[in-house]
Amino acid sequence: MSRYDAVYARSIQDPEGFWAEAANDVHWFRRWDRVLDRSRAPFDRWFVGGKTNSCYNALDLHVERGRGEQLALIYDSPLANVVRSFTYRELRDEVARVAGGLTSLGVGQGDRVIIYMPMIPEAVMAMLACARIGAIHSVVFGGFAAPELAKRIDDAKPKLVISASCGLEPGKVIAYKPLVDEAIELSAAKPQTCLFLQRPQMQAALKLGRDRDWNDVMSGGRSADCVPLEATDPLYILYTSGTTGHPKGVVRDNGGHLVALKWSMKNVYGVDPGEVYWAASDIGWVVGHSYIVYAPLFHGCTTILYEGKPVGTPDPGAFWRVISQHGVRALFTAPTAFRAIKRDDPKGEHIRRYDLREFRTLFLAGERCDPDTLLWAQEKLAVPVIDHWWQTETGWPIGANCVGLGMLPVKPGSCTKPVPGYDVRFLDNNGREVPDGQLGNVVIRLPLPPGCLPTLWKADSEYEKWYLSSYPGYYKTADAGFRDLDGYISIMSRTDDIINVAGHRLSTGAMEEVLASHPDIAECAVIGVADALKGEVPIGLVVLKSGVVREHKDIVSELIQIVRDRVGPVASFKKATIVKRLPKTRSGKIVRGTIKKIAEGTEYIIPPTIDDPATLDEISASLKTLGYAPVMAPAGPR
Ligand code: COA
Ligand code: AMP
Repeated sequence: MSRYDAVYARSIQDPEGFWAEAANDVHWFRRWDRVLDRSRAPFDRWFVGGKTNSCYNALDLHVERGRGEQLALIYDSPLANVVRSFTYRELRDEVARVAGGLTSLGVGQGDRVIIYMPMIPEAVMAMLACARIGAIHSVVFGGFAAPELAKRIDDAKPKLVISASCGLEPGKVIAYKPLVDEAIELSAAKPQTCLFLQRPQMQAALKLGRDRDWNDVMSGGRSADCVPLEATDPLYILYTSGTTGHPKGVVRDNGGHLVALKWSMKNVYGVDPGEVYWAASDIGWVVGHSYIVYAPLFHGCTTILYEGKPVGTPDPGAFWRVISQHGVRALFTAPTAFRAIKRDDPKGEHIRRYDLREFRTLFLAGERCDPDTLLWAQEKLAVPVIDHWWQTETGWPIGANCVGLGMLPVKPGSCTKPVPGYDVRFLDNNGREVPDGQLGNVVIRLPLPPGCLPTLWKADSEYEKWYLSSYPGYYKTADAGFRDLDGYISIMSRTDDIINVAGHRLSTGAMEEVLASHPDIAECAVIGVADALKGEVPIGLVVLKSGVVREHKDIVSELIQIVRDRVGPVASFKKATIVKRLPKTRSGKIVRGTIKKIAEGTEYIIPPTIDDPATLDEISASLKTLGYAPVMAPAGPR
């Protein structure tokens, strides 16, 4: 039995003993009364009665234990042309000052604070400052448009919105202030105060009364201490795409999250305190929350906040420059970043320009990693490349090759085995386990391990409906996959309408809602189609209302613009076409899977339930105009 097998078996047989032991590794102001409380099942809670503080565990504890002069955070921005570092002592003092500033604005325990900021140190400080005083942060990714920000403001009802004057993208400065203003204009739950950090690249004109300048507020000189919080108190809400246009507010608690994330650093990622760990993601995503901010700091590592891209800032050697300059041991990013690097530097020539001897492991997640990309990275970097699988909801990996528990052989296309704590099963639509090798609905047997979502923000029944009701006793991941005879798991696709665009999770349903609101549109479908760089990109197929005689190209450009304006540029919605009708089954369901196959040029079978097979020929012709090359369907029931 391997070390992984033994640890995994124990975590499933005795979850309470297993996690109680892991919990000894973190600081508690008060020890818990019960490790796992299932009295309100399915709303299971970890470490009930325990008191802790996530910011204390991330910063103060390390200063007190002698890591004060070690670097905690390195901000590296090729876009701003700045590298700035903070020791644990400096970061603790800054965060205490920011926490004092928030307190002076009337923010206290349980208040929500929306953080809509670019990848700058003040964003990390704002998150940790909230954690320090028990305010609940909700970070919104900068690539979302104002209406998406407004939805999150309306749901979280924040006392404060923290933003910056601008974000930086290659070749452009993006003004954030107008987006915040528009979002607040659109929202019903208007925050009392907005705090803006003025960046040198662009100043924002502040609105008298509502807006405050970050530096003015923080120069008040007061600091705030860590507040002991219940382990079950929320640390943050992170909104993620659901199957409707309404995002889901994933709640994260303090205690379970702290224990699980701290445990994962050594056991999943094989990293030791004092080492440099880099997650090249964005703080607006769960990867950024867990592995830029919290986990590396809980573990006493140096974390990197990178404001740049894998390519073009300035070249495809950007990642190797950061790794060698800062002594990174483990890098975590999305496969799409590697596809971009491989596209621009297929021979890996930029890799040879840097000394990467200290670099040990590459971790990829966020979307399915195609074997070609994994093998390319492995060959060029000569380090293990670990594909691992998780979700915003879980907050940390569900399936991985747990490097710290003894690395298992890598099988490209598989994320290896379930991580200790997760009892992963594969069910058919009737809830019966499918045999190994057969595709099934991927579910996790309850209880979920610590760190996973205890519920959705103010929406217990939605939590039950979306995640727990389809397969009683199990959490539904909404992924489809299989386990092979060696126990390796492969995650193949989503079972809902979520698509993954450059590692960003987006709902096609939300985009359809936007298209349907256009006055000329009668009906529409948004489909995720394979893309060599981004994994998947959305395309829109729309049917016009009768009597609309406008130029099609004008309508299409309006559609592209409204998705950009209402969902955000991050959706990468750049292709739409007007069709006479959408192919549907006799019961009126759009045959999205078949349309996807047609666009991707893979063979498809004409669905036996299709209402009119001729619609598929029409769609094929329309997709050709978008640059896709459909293959002919074999003869079917025409
Ligand atoms: N604020 C404002 N706009 C943003 C933004 C932000 N924080 N992040 C992205 N955007 C905009 C971009 O400027 C771009 O706009 P454009 O349509 O005007 O060009 C659009 O959103 C899409 O951005 P992006 O997804 O970054 O695509 P790209 O084509 O600029 O770059 C990659 C492609 C592959 C290099 C890039 O997607 C990448 O680095 N991906 C890694 C993804 C990742 O880390 N995912 C996290 C999950 S682990
Ligand atoms: P997010 O909540 O943004 O992290 O997206 C989670 C979804 O991304 C999962 O439900 C999967 O569909 C997909 N995903 C993440 N990591 C992987 C992976 N390693 N392999 C396959 N799919 C993945």
